[in-house]
This record gives sequence, C-alpha cells and structure tokens, in this order.
Amino acid sequence: MASPSSTNNISLPTCIMVLFILVEAVSGQLSANFYASSCPNFSSIISSAVNSAVSNEARMGASLLRLHFHDCFVNGCDASVLLDDNSTFTGEKTAAPNNNSLRGFNVIDTIKSQLESSCPGIVSCADIVATAARDSVVALGGPSWSLSFGRRDSTTASLSAANANIPAPTLNLSGLISSFSNLGFTTNEMVALSGSHTIGQARCTVFRARLYNENNINSSFATSLQANCPSSGGDNNLSPLDVNTPTSFDNSYFSNLLNQKGLLHSDQQLFNGGSTDSQVQTYSSNSATFFTDFANGMIKMSNLSPLTGSSGEVRTNCRRTN
Ligand code: HEM
Ligand SMILES: *[C@@H]1O[C@H](CO)[C@@H](O)[C@H](O)[C@H]1NC(C)=O
Ligand SMILES: *[C@@H]1O[C@H](CO)[C@@H](O)[C@H](O)[C@H]1NC(C)=O
Ligand SMILES: *[C@@H]1O[C@H](CO)[C@@H](O)[C@H](O)[C@H]1NC(C)=O
Ligand SMILES: *[C@@H]1O[C@H](CO)[C@@H](O)[C@H](O)[C@H]1NC(C)=O
Ligand SMILES: *[C@@H]1O[C@H](CO)[C@@H](O)[C@H](O)[C@H]1NC(C)=O
Repeated sequence: MASPSSTNNISLPTCIMVLFILVEAVSGQLSANFYASSCPNFSSIISSAVNSAVSNEARMGASLLRLHFHDCFVNGCDASVLLDDNSTFTGEKTAAPNNNSLRGFNVIDTIKSQLESSCPGIVSCADIVATAARDSVVALGGPSWSLSFGRRDSTTASLSAANANIPAPTLNLSGLISSFSNLGFTTNEMVALSGSHTIGQARCTVFRARLYNENNINSSFATSLQANCPSSGGDNNLSPLDVNTPTSFDNSYFSNLLNQKGLLHSDQQLFNGGSTDSQVQTYSSNSATFFTDFANGMIKMSNLSPLTGSSGEVRTNCRRTN
C-alpha cells in the first residue's frame, strides 16, 4: 500500500483490487470454513458414512486412517493414492506398501457419490480422505482434531515416490526416524503417529521374519502367532497390530511394546533400548498425552504439501482424473 506521504495516487478501486488479490493469495491456503457456503453439510455426510462403514466392519476405520497416511507421504495430501491404474497410467496402488494391502477405496467412492449429489464438483477427494481418517479414529474411541480444508486433487501419481517415501516394516529405529524427518517430522511425532498401530491388521508376509528370527519378542506371543503365520505359506493371513484391543483406538499399542509384543519389526524398534524408549513408556501410562500428541501429529500430516487455489482439480470420480 502507498504510504500517506507518497506522491503516488492509488485509487480506491485499485486498493480494493489489491486487497482482493491478497485475500485470494491467502485463500490459496487451507481454511476451516472452506466449504461453509459451498457445501455446509459435507462433514456430516462424511461422518455418517464413516460411522456406518466402521460399524459394519471395525477394521475399516484402520484402513481409512492408513489411506490418509499413504496419500500424504507421497507428494502431499492430494488423493494421488486413489487413482486407478489403466493401460496408459500407472499410479500408486501397486507400490510395495500398497499392493494387496491398502483398503477403503469403496468407502471413499460411496462418500464421493453422496457429496456429488449434494454439492457437485465441490469437495475434493483429498479433503474426503483427511476427514474420513479423523472420523475413523473418533469412531474407534480415539481423539478428534480440527481440520482445515481446500486441498485439491492431483492429476498425477508416483509409484516410485510411494515406494521410496512410505516407511517399510523392516526399518530399524534410525531408518524410521529418517523416513519421517524427510517429511519434516520429529522423532517424537514419529513415535506418536506410530500409535496408529493400536488399530488394524497386518499380513503374515510383513511380520513373518519377526516370529522366526528375532529375539526381542515375547516367546509365547511369537508361538501363538506362528499358527496363523507359518514359516512358509499363508502370506495374506491377518493378525492384529494390537494383540489386546485391535478395534479400540487406545494406548495399548505402547503397553504391548513394553512387553515385547509389537507385531512388526518396526513397531518393536520403538522400544528396544534406544532413544524412544522413554516416550513409549510415557504413552503406555498416559493415554491423554498420547492422544494430544497423536492429534497434533495428524494435523501436521494432513497439511503436507496440499494443492490449493487453482492447482490440481476437484475430481468428480476419485479413481480417475477429470
Ligand atoms: C512408523 C512407520 C510405519 C510403518 C513401518 C508401517 C507399516 C505398516 C505395515 C507393514 C502395515 C501392515 C500392512 C499389510 O499387512 O499389508 C501397517 C498397517 C497399518 N498402518 Fe502403518 N506403518 C507405519 C506408520 C503408520 C502411520 C504413521 C499410520 C497412520 C497415521 C499408520 C497406520 C496404519 C494402520 C491403521 C494400519 C492397519 C490398516 C488396516 O488394518 O487396514 N501406520 N503399517
Ligand atoms: C446432512 O447430512 C446428514 C448425513 O447424511 C443428514 O442426516 C442430514 O439430514 C443432512 N442435513 C441437511 C440439512 O441436508
Ligand atoms: C500386485 O499384486 C498382484 C496380485 O498378487 C500381483 O500379481 C502383482 O504382480 C503385484 N504387483 C506388483 C507391482 O508387485
Ligand atoms: C539401520 O539400518 C541401516 C540401513 O539398513 C544401517 O545402515 C544401519 O547400520 C542400521 N543402524 C543400526 C543402529 O542398526
Ligand atoms: C510373555 O507373555 C506371556 C503372556 O502374556 C506372559 O505370561 C509371560 O510372562 C511373557 N514372557 C516374558 C518373558 O515376558
Ligand atoms: C487412465 O487414468 C488416468 C488417470 O486417472 C486418466 O487421466 C486417463 O483418462 C485414464 N485413461 C483411460 C483410457 O481410462
């Protein structure tokens, strides 16, 4: 703006124009009331659909939470993970961490079609995924958090980034720390977000080596899992990530780690004599601290490099670009 002493004479319309451009620039960020006038009922449509999916199958809450993680860790929360492969396009669904593993796409489709009926072309798939993840955690008894909206959907996806950025269950503690720090997360945030494994299931193929080759596992726990995860075969047999309460979002994931009952190699790395042991102990005895840190970590994750303003698009079908 011109200062009062300036000799430039900037007209009122010009000032209004400049102000408008500034407001536009700010609205390129996410905002809590993004859909307030364009789709006021969007959040109740999403929470109703999530509640019904989770009451039909509790694990779906875990699957929807993971979907958001696998979206955001690959070039930001842009719904890239939802794009289907076809003869001329390869997306992220066949990346090693996703293939035969990621779920919840049908629930997202159901929500999208309800939103397209209520407010066509308005609510992005990326915002649906972020909201469904939050509502899933709430539906399973975990904390809620405030989201901002206005993420737009990508027109691209990256198989190679999905393979590179999503942490593997074979990582050791330093690998887990770097994988999260590459995206701007502290070690504390990594541990808090790992508490997601208080819900959901994993396939034998991702934890077999832990049952047969590792020492930092409770032996009766290992033996009980071996029945459903033989040393060969049964790759897709499922076991709960939290042996105690797999459909409750609570802090028992961390108590399990104290008892060497982490399911994944990567889980037990968080309590294995290293720098994160004390944080695991804190969370195992104080669920309120875990919930607060988890919610803050999720807010940070949900804000990873969104497309905003006129970047990307609002897909009408989450599985394909417009
Ligand atoms: C710390 C590094 C992490 C590693 C190495 C990891 C790895 C895995 C693996 C291997 C599975 C089982 C996949 C399968 O069997 O096909 C899994 C499941 C799951 N992960 Fe993670 N994960 C990590 C962090 C996270 C984070 C940050 C979240 C969410 C914010 C998350 C949410 C979940 C959920 C909810 C499931 C169960 C999904 C279901 O039952 O459908 N994970 N994770
Ligand atoms: C908003 O959506 C919810 C869930 O679908 C529905 O129960 C409610 O009647 C809707 N309200 C309005 C004003 O459309
Ligand atoms: C994904 O899984 C399918 C079914 O098991 C398999 O045929 C395919 O080779 C896998 N794709 C990749 C890229 O690993
Ligand atoms: C962790 O894994 C990396 C990569 O496999 C390896 O280079 C490093 O030595 C390991 N660190 C520890 C402490 O075992
Ligand atoms: C392993 O877990 C079982 C069952 O919870 C428990 O009774 C046993 O004491 C644990 N073993 C060790 C070595 O901690
Ligand atoms: C293949 O998928 C891409 C990404 O969604 C889309 O742009 C393209 O139109 C699709 N092609 C066909 C033949 O469906």
